[in-house]
Amino acid sequence: MNFIDLRFATDVREIDLDTVDLSAPAPDFEPNRQYYFMAKARSYVRELSEKAGRPLTFFTQTFGCQMNARDSEKLIGILENIGYVPGDSEAADFVIYNTCTVRENANNKVYGRLGYLNSLQKKNPFMMIGLCGCMMQEPSVVEKIKQSYRFVSLIFGTHNIYKFAELMTLALENTFGGEKGSTMTIDIWEDTDKIVEDLPVERKYSFKSGVNIMFGCNNFCSYCIVPYVRGRERSREPKEIIREIERLVADGVIEVMLLGQNVNSYGKNLPQPMSFAELLREVEKIDGLERIRFMTSHPKDLSDELIAVMKESKKICPHLHLPLQSGSSRILKNMNRRYDKEHYLKLVEKIRAAVPDIALTTDIIVGFPGETEEDFEETLDVVKKVEYDSAFTFIYSKRTGTPAAAMEDQVPEDVVKERFDRLLKEVQEIAAKKAEGLTGRTLPVLVEERNRQDETLVTGRLGNNSVVHLPGGKDLIGKIVNVRLKECRGFYYIGELA
Ligand code: SAH
Ligand code: SF4
Ligand code: F3S
Repeated sequence: MNFIDLRFATDVREIDLDTVDLSAPAPDFEPNRQYYFMAKARSYVRELSEKAGRPLTFFTQTFGCQMNARDSEKLIGILENIGYVPGDSEAADFVIYNTCTVRENANNKVYGRLGYLNSLQKKNPFMMIGLCGCMMQEPSVVEKIKQSYRFVSLIFGTHNIYKFAELMTLALENTFGGEKGSTMTIDIWEDTDKIVEDLPVERKYSFKSGVNIMFGCNNFCSYCIVPYVRGRERSREPKEIIREIERLVADGVIEVMLLGQNVNSYGKNLPQPMSFAELLREVEKIDGLERIRFMTSHPKDLSDELIAVMKESKKICPHLHLPLQSGSSRILKNMNRRYDKEHYLKLVEKIRAAVPDIALTTDIIVGFPGETEEDFEETLDVVKKVEYDSAFTFIYSKRTGTPAAAMEDQVPEDVVKERFDRLLKEVQEIAAKKAEGLTGRTLPVLVEERNRQDETLVTGRLGNNSVVHLPGGKDLIGKIVNVRLKECRGFYYIGELA
């Protein structure tokens, strides 16, 4: 067999990892370096699996947003390449939690489950535990894990996830090479300007996929930890994005979700700047791609050009997630959102005028420091005026290190809870009324999976992102079919093939 020295290889995506020359030094450039370590980790996993007398399994658990979900697909792509097979529970040989830290309860969930992982590990000598994602970018978290959770083998953050193969190789050496638990493999970077292309990804769905168009965030909303844990905003080159989508389409994908914390500021810092609207025009041209979604849109940067593109487009779904956060201009100012109530409402008016059928969804925070009853009523007022198709409502969570955490007048818990319940009730009533409005219509549905409760049904989504259940078999999965919406049951529909 001819062994390949990856320092001189082109198109590494095509290389059989079992033919990589591991006696040659690791390449010092990406992505070749990571393919080298995939091959190396693969040799370790093969040895361990021979010892165990069975294939080694992995299990990933994702917390948080769509960015994290996409990152987990990258982790899985690498794990499968290094020879782990998917497991269906945490009783696996490698368990990795991809964490979120946007609200306190996201953190607590992770600590809660680590104890359970430790008990599983005591029963399995081949088990290794990893932690990555946004929580790991907080020094206090990593300190706590180093002190109290020594059984964790591998910790890395958001900026160096592209190095997962290399870190996994190290962790396997550290965990199984010496005395177990003696060395934790920890690598956290404060920030990066690097974007590594062409690493393997394993999609959860064969027919739809998230696509990162940018990373990080520069907005520093005063309550939000994301800019601290995801670093500065950087956009991918449009040609890389288009190339990725073309490959996805060739592989059966018909719907993409373009991902960024603030897609409306896409491309501003590219060597050759390009607007998000221009990027959408390019994506629209890709043959075979049928649906385009994106998230998240920051109201301050949503341009008339984008509205025009949405109006003209045949592929962009009639859905816009437009986080409000608060309806009070005073609170919005303190949140550093850089728009006010009037601007937001005008924006909604413009969008609805251009795309009358559009579904609008939002995020709202209740109990931001200093929020008065009057401020809260402004939020309710916007909710009533806009009539969101659905809304994610959050209780303000104090994130250490953000400006809002140091603000006086934190709102008492019982007051926040009472407002939260009122908001939720309003949001749900409006959402139910909006959903009812589509009953009887026939609309395209992308069928995504078999219904989990009822084998005779499949489940899919309308362009506006609403869920529809309809009778049908698995041959429909991954297809866009016309469905008559027979009945609305609150937040989802029962339909039938038209
Ligand atoms: N980039 C997106 C939001 C990402 S975080 C945007 O700006 O729209 C997702 C949501 O979590 C936010 O929209 C906000 O509503 C909520 N969130 C963020 N920080 C929070 C905090 N400290 N407490 C409660 N909710 C928060
Ligand atoms: Fe957080 Fe604001 Fe950035 Fe969204 S835009 S991630 S809320 S700082
Ligand atoms: Fe959470 Fe990180 Fe997303 S903090 S919401 S997983 S960017």
